[in-house]
Amino acid sequence: MMRSLELALIATLSCAIMPAFSAERSRELTALVREDCGSCHGMTLKGGLGAPLTPNDLAEKDATSLAAIILDGVPGTPMPPWRGLISEADARWIAEKLKQGFPQ
Ligand code: HEC
Repeated sequence: MMRSLELALIATLSCAIMPAFSAERSRELTALVREDCGSCHGMTLKGGLGAPLTPNDLAEKDATSLAAIILDGVPGTPMPPWRGLISEADARWIAEKLKQGFPQ
């Protein structure tokens, strides 16, 4: 009894500190990137009209600035802002996954 209370408390606390990304949201964002970002960056993200987004190409760039580009776009280029469609946490998740190798 005590044990399960403790576990529940730990689960609640760790959620408050670092919101777990739901499996559902991960799937939605993966589909969005493959379809919508892929139309410019290539279905395999190796580049097209947009720059390649593979871990190798993004190695020198930090996730924070990549997330900012995803949210606000690059003015004067076809890279559109995604703010409003996705949250800051979403953009951060995409940036980190791109750097790690984006899930299929
Ligand atoms: C209409 C075409 C288009 C779409 C759609 C698009 N991009 Fe881009 N993106 C570009 C272009 C063009 C650039 C290069 C901008 C420049 O010249 O700096 C770019 C740049 C980027 C960069 C910076 C790459 C670097 O090396 O600095 C990231 C990250 C990025 N896009 C992510 C995304 C993500 C994630 C999505 C989908 C949510 C997306 N883009 C959708 C055209 C697009």
